[in-house]
Amino acid sequence: MCESQTIGHTIFAIILYYKGDAEIMAKFIVEHSENLSGCIKISGSKNAVLPILAASILTEKECLLHQVPALTDVYAMITILENLGATVTFDTKKETLKICSGVLKKQEEEYELAEKMRASFLIMGPLLAKYKQAKIPLPGGCPIGTRPVDLHLKGFLALGCKIKQEHGYIDITTKGLKGANIYLDFPSVGATENIMMAATLANGVTMIQNAAAEPEISDLAAFLKKMGADIEGEGTDTIVIRGVKELNGTEHTIIPDRIEAGTFMTAAAITNGDIILENINEEHLKPIIAKLSETNVKIEMVKEGLRIYRKGKLQPIHLKTMPFPGFPTDMQAPFMSLMTMIKGTSLVTETVFENRFQHVSELKRMGANIKIESRSAVIEGVDKLTGSQVKATDLRAGAALILSALAAEGKTEISDIYHVERGYYKIEEKLKSLGAKILRCEDDNEES
Ligand code: UD1
Repeated sequence: MCESQTIGHTIFAIILYYKGDAEIMAKFIVEHSENLSGCIKISGSKNAVLPILAASILTEKECLLHQVPALTDVYAMITILENLGATVTFDTKKETLKICSGVLKKQEEEYELAEKMRASFLIMGPLLAKYKQAKIPLPGGCPIGTRPVDLHLKGFLALGCKIKQEHGYIDITTKGLKGANIYLDFPSVGATENIMMAATLANGVTMIQNAAAEPEISDLAAFLKKMGADIEGEGTDTIVIRGVKELNGTEHTIIPDRIEAGTFMTAAAITNGDIILENINEEHLKPIIAKLSETNVKIEMVKEGLRIYRKGKLQPIHLKTMPFPGFPTDMQAPFMSLMTMIKGTSLVTETVFENRFQHVSELKRMGANIKIESRSAVIEGVDKLTGSQVKATDLRAGAALILSALAAEGKTEISDIYHVERGYYKIEEKLKSLGAKILRCEDDNEES
């Protein structure tokens, strides 16, 4: 039933990610690069594959996934599942991953990994559904906000769980999950995913109201349905899940990463480039396409994919981050990089996370003119940015710095790029293929 190979490089990558000084010291050196042009392929979505890997706990049979990006966050989730007893084979060249959870030997997650990656909390729902118990460290704090898990817990409580919190762990047990109506006070992506996974094997019907409608939720639902789950309404604010007795193994292709696509679209805009993106879903990109079009960037579907190019002067815009189909908070920092170079006043309001302006101080070091007023940032476009030493404070902030560095005069050194590598597969290689001058260096400045 299960393949019994494991992946040696998983452990290697995890050690590099979390502990390796070399990796933490790695930097990008970026030089001014104009007119990026060419065609690149967008990878599978990080935020879709993480919950899908967690969902594989729900079956003892093997699942086969395609278009899995070899990102450090993916390796982290694999290690969490392997520690519980799952067997994983990851062919990174073919981007296929086989996972068989079988009967897991434990339902307790270790602190070190949980502390680093919030998405690790997504194994809670599947563990409760399949094993009626789970003990997971409280996810660590995060630079972009406090990111509590109260909505996940509200859902588990409604489904009939007992929750204890002590010694930094959340310890949940149930005599058996029972379907319930659950209203989320905010359409949390993670809470919707966790509750949806738990409800697939619950007794009776669960309705999640004010559910998140992100494309990654629909991809998870598609995967669960192929496993035999009974789910309706994914992609809307009301999801209904009728519990089934058991789920089967299945095969699934992960959706393209809309945030990676948005980042490269912004790279075309900021470098006055002309890029074609292969492997995208235009529906998922609607809010990004809408706001980029408002700046006067041209976007059109061509035979090979989505073409993004500039014609004429860019216009300043106002944008507000919102749950899907609103403008994604993960694109806020990359968009702000573009706004710093557009003449006039742009405005960004961040409504999803309370502290997601950490990139602002770094962009200011490069010459950007940005003022923060509560949850808004007022950006006055400048004539030029200048290369500087800056630090990636989180994943998307790091991506924003790369974009600004491409537009800046001279050379920019971006440190702490391990944040970027959590979510962008081979970003420097993809940018280089479009003509960008970017090197990835270890601390001794050797290109790797
Ligand atoms: C996911 C994405 C992340 C994205 C975010 C919002 C993954 C792995 N990560 O994160 O890239 O930026 O959605 O689109 O998919 N909240 C609560 N209580 C909870 C849960 C969340 O108050 O129990 C709050 C958070 O603090 C935050 C807001 O809800 O202010 C949104 O969080 P949520 O949608 O849960 O984001 P994540 O699932 O963590």
